[in-house]
Amino acid sequence: MLEFCDAVEGRGYTWGCSARMDCVSEELLDRMALAGCRGIYYGVETGSRWLQSVVKKRLDLDLYQPILDSSLQKNMKVTVSFITGFPEERHEDQLATANLLGECFLRSDAQRINRQWHLLTPEPGTELFHKLKNELLYDGYVTDQNFLTMEIDDAELMQSHPEIFMTHFYYPTLLPRSRNIFVTSATHSLNKIGAPVVAHTLDFYDAKLGVFLMRMWEWTQKIGYEGPCDEDLIVRFIEDEFGIGHYLTSLFSYMNALQKIGNVSLIKKSPGASLPADGCTLDVSLSDDVSFVIAKNVVLWSDYFDCANLVEALQSGNFNSEYAVRHAKADRRNFILTTTPSRRTECKSFEITSNARTLIELFHEPTSVSQCSTLLGLNPAQKDELRGFVKALLKRRILDRVTDLPQHLTVHRSLGVTC
Ligand SMILES: C[S@@+](CC[C@H](N)C(=O)[O-])C[C@H]1O[C@@H](n2cnc3c(N)ncnc32)[C@H](O)[C@@H]1O
Repeated sequence: MLEFCDAVEGRGYTWGCSARMDCVSEELLDRMALAGCRGIYYGVETGSRWLQSVVKKRLDLDLYQPILDSSLQKNMKVTVSFITGFPEERHEDQLATANLLGECFLRSDAQRINRQWHLLTPEPGTELFHKLKNELLYDGYVTDQNFLTMEIDDAELMQSHPEIFMTHFYYPTLLPRSRNIFVTSATHSLNKIGAPVVAHTLDFYDAKLGVFLMRMWEWTQKIGYEGPCDEDLIVRFIEDEFGIGHYLTSLFSYMNALQKIGNVSLIKKSPGASLPADGCTLDVSLSDDVSFVIAKNVVLWSDYFDCANLVEALQSGNFNSEYAVRHAKADRRNFILTTTPSRRTECKSFEITSNARTLIELFHEPTSVSQCSTLLGLNPAQKDELRGFVKALLKRRILDRVTDLPQHLTVHRSLGVTC
């Protein structure tokens, strides 16, 4: 590594690498950072000291915090990677892994950590595969280590050739497979919801991801849900735990909506503006017959809370539950959430009136000013106002002109296909 650093330093390269936590030191990380290292991937695998020895990774878990701290201090982005689904893994081992991974949600620099929790996948050449190759199990679950099938009989083909398609199989485990799938998929979904909201929520669960996951796992059993977790399921769980009017329910469903239009781990809130009061200087000649549609990166949102402000308060450390309650309104308010179409890392939130919302909703399908105006029975003065409003929405990329849509959609249209 030192030789590599000597060779690349001063050439303007930035690079990333993967490492064991016990193979780096403060000094080496310094040297690597100086030579352009901006990202490092650590395989930790398990938070259980006992399992570290059973699976022969033998990582000293006391290194976890200091090496994580050092790497982040040197401005590197860090990935920590864990595994569940080891045959010998017990309840307490999985819990220890969840808790160690969960610590990465709680840090103030959590946004620069990529948290991964994988299902153990059989791999050729490993001792475990050699030992258990005749006991492999198959359930067709698609993980990040295998792939979707393409033909209807692919599953059958793969099942009859475990020696070729071993990554589609799994080992028999002490813990139920459904639970292993649940904790990994739930962690993936929590990453999508974003660290600030998750970290705050964990305060209600002894600041431990393991406690949160087990509580949710038991809830899935109570409601009879079987299968992987996704963001919608987490929103349902939070609503069941805290109630529909609780700010946590609002925050989860807000982040869920937002992650569908952007990358929440990167999203920065930028100031919204009132609509359309701040005027519109956009110079478009708005023919009444051109159709407009709500842009893809836009969500219409209604809630008791201004969640964009709550998230900002969470991120800046100015949040407490009284603050949330103070920001709640007796009635639901309407907002437009948008992200930058190209980079999807900047979120704008505009508060709108319910009339404005009703109007914008007309543009779920391509609609023109004339059609809108007929539908609403507007007089000429009101139609002028509508035109101004549509211009303001266009300027902020909340509406797209139908001709602004990607080329292939236009081609379909000209062939008479409804998109
Ligand atoms: C290429 S490894 C990097 C390991 C790192 N260089 C180290 O030695 O700690 C990538 C990570 O993917 C995960 N991974 C690798 N093989 C896997 C498998 N067969 N099943 C599940 N996860 C696996 C592990 O968490 C592993 O640390």
